[in-house]
Amino acid sequence: MTGGRPRVFMHDVSLRDGLQAAPVFVPTDDKVALADALSATGLARIEVTSYTSPQAIPMLADAAEVMRRIRRAPGVEYTVLVPNLRGAERALEAPPDEFNLVMSCSETHNLANLRMTREQSVRALRQVIRLADEAGVAVNVSLSCAFGCPMEGEVPEAPVLDLAARFLAAGAQGVTLCDTTGMAYPGQVAALSRRFIDRHPTAQLTLHLHNTRGMGLANALAGLQAGGRRFDAALGGVGGCPYAPGATGNICTEDLVHMLELEGCDTGVDLAALLDCARRLRAQVGHDLPGQVVKAGRRLDLHPAPA
Ligand code: COA
Ligand code: ZN
Repeated sequence: MTGGRPRVFMHDVSLRDGLQAAPVFVPTDDKVALADALSATGLARIEVTSYTSPQAIPMLADAAEVMRRIRRAPGVEYTVLVPNLRGAERALEAPPDEFNLVMSCSETHNLANLRMTREQSVRALRQVIRLADEAGVAVNVSLSCAFGCPMEGEVPEAPVLDLAARFLAAGAQGVTLCDTTGMAYPGQVAALSRRFIDRHPTAQLTLHLHNTRGMGLANALAGLQAGGRRFDAALGGVGGCPYAPGATGNICTEDLVHMLELEGCDTGVDLAALLDCARRLRAQVGHDLPGQVVKAGRRLDLHPAPA
């Protein structure tokens, strides 16, 4: 809390989730420039890239170069997505503050996305946690399809909470519950967030929401009211997992900050600077993006009355 305002931590994932399935390769220079601009906006965490196989995710094949070239700002945590031990070893060449490990709550999606069963993923990621520990890098685990799977349907709460508990026991500092294809609805987000926080009051919980069915900001608000204080989001609402059928963009970072500040939260983010970043990304990808505030202006950006 800052002066009675709840402190909310914004994690921008534009450069990773946002660009992993982009229709065109965003040049390395542009990625570095965007990371540096984002570093000056007051975000708590920036997910810079992913150390996945370049055959699987060609758009982020320049991960190592991007991580070497960005200028890291004090107070910002830099994280990278890591799917396996090979990815972790590559990432240690320019060590980030955190590894964001990833696996799915759905067996079918885990096989499609990572070509491992869930138990194989758990074993592989435990090895990564040991490596991170030796290297002094923090670990967060992102659990995909935590609110539903586009191939299996409903994903029950129990296995999601069980995976979260196993990774926290193994040494992860936080868990991200990911709504990979926008299947979550507000009551569900509130219920799962509350259950997570009751069980793990000191662990970092992050909500990673997609706006595939227009429920993204409603879900974020429900998560906030349930005690969630960390949110992943992407500039302009870009993003989506190439191995999840029907996936579309993340909730939009600047739209979320705009809403949370109106709701009385302290996000620490300079919204004007963030809107500049959203315009920069739009120019880089060369097409319109779903973000709304960048088009409509902030709530009190007024228009002249007709003459
Ligand atoms: N980084 C770079 N190369 C990697 C790698 C990594 N993290 N993991 C595997 N590889 C390479 C292997 O060295 C091997 O290369 P080779 O053919 O030249 O020998 C090749 O990829 C296949 O290795 P294998 O262990 O059989 O991996 P796989 O084909 O089963 O792929 C993943 C496993 C996890 C690496 C791959 O599925 C992946 O990167 N998925 C991306 C998932 C993702 O980011 N989704 C979106 C975010 S949720
Ligand atoms: Zn995502």
